[in-house]
Amino acid sequence: MEYKIGLIGCGTVCRGLLEILLKKGEYLRDKFDFEAKIVAICDKLKGSLLIQEEIDLEKLLRLLDEGKRIDQYLQSRTNEAEVMDPHEMIEKSDAQIIVELTYTDIQTAEPATSYIRKALRSGKHVVTSNKGPAALYYSELKEMAQKNNLCFRIEGTVMSGTPVFSLFECGLAGNEIKEIRGILNGTTNLILTKMEEDNMDYKEALLLAQKMGYAEADPKADVEGYDALAKIVILSNVFLEANITPSDVKREGITFLTRKEILAAIEEGFRYKLIAQAKREGTKVKASVSPQKLPLSDPLAGIRGVFNALTFDLDLLGKITIQGPGAGKIETGFSILSDMLAIHRFLTK
Ligand code: HSE
Repeated sequence: MEYKIGLIGCGTVCRGLLEILLKKGEYLRDKFDFEAKIVAICDKLKGSLLIQEEIDLEKLLRLLDEGKRIDQYLQSRTNEAEVMDPHEMIEKSDAQIIVELTYTDIQTAEPATSYIRKALRSGKHVVTSNKGPAALYYSELKEMAQKNNLCFRIEGTVMSGTPVFSLFECGLAGNEIKEIRGILNGTTNLILTKMEEDNMDYKEALLLAQKMGYAEADPKADVEGYDALAKIVILSNVFLEANITPSDVKREGITFLTRKEILAAIEEGFRYKLIAQAKREGTKVKASVSPQKLPLSDPLAGIRGVFNALTFDLDLLGKITIQGPGAGKIETGFSILSDMLAIHRFLTK
């Protein structure tokens, strides 16, 4: 089955998705009868493109690699999208799925939320890896989608392409979650690992995370715990029906941890980790982000570098821990593919 796709935002995740579709197009068609045809792209800095036929991914990626604008794709041909903003493009394009990949603003969740609302109102499925709309407006957007028999999917918002939300749609469905605990920020986990293992100081380790492209544009979001906070809010609202906002979560980052404390903890058989957790307490859900000294026997204590992990305490299975990448171009690009395949299954069941 063929799907027309519109992309809002053409940064790292978008590039990851385009590379995956280029490389695996044939495999996806043969194995799943799934064909993604990109028909629209809109990016605030790189320009826009809206065409009737499918966009040639190889040609588009070449333009992006050369640092050129998206609208140079058509050369001398008229580009309908040249003067369009994303709202207009969502309306005018005949994409069935809109992939929203603009920057995360955790205070307002804009402009992403407006684009998502517009897409759902226009009868289009939405996939996003943007933490803002998922943390602040998940229930509203999910309800809006369901009422219109559409999908609103957010796999990439937590642990990039490592499955979290889809786990409970299938394999773990039927379990109730009692508690969620995890390492949800790769930058801080890399910093803690490098400070312990490679004798690096905090600044050097942060610089490394920035160089590797894992840190947020403003790394305060990582080291002061805001990124992990957004993710635990999303998990609480999706899995525990918590209906909480970021201001309900107690937060402490890693900026006050010294190398001396990190090494002393190891001597005592413990390891510091930035832990995000959420638990039902009576009718409420209590969520927090803080550095914690974990015994080395805790599976979360063994998570090194930029990896993320989540331990779910389940009523039927007890504790299950999933570990995997939590950031990265291909890793997050894959989360979008995985959500698009879920939409394909939804539409063909
Ligand atoms: N800055 C984030 C991290 C990126 O380091 O985990 C993924 O959300």
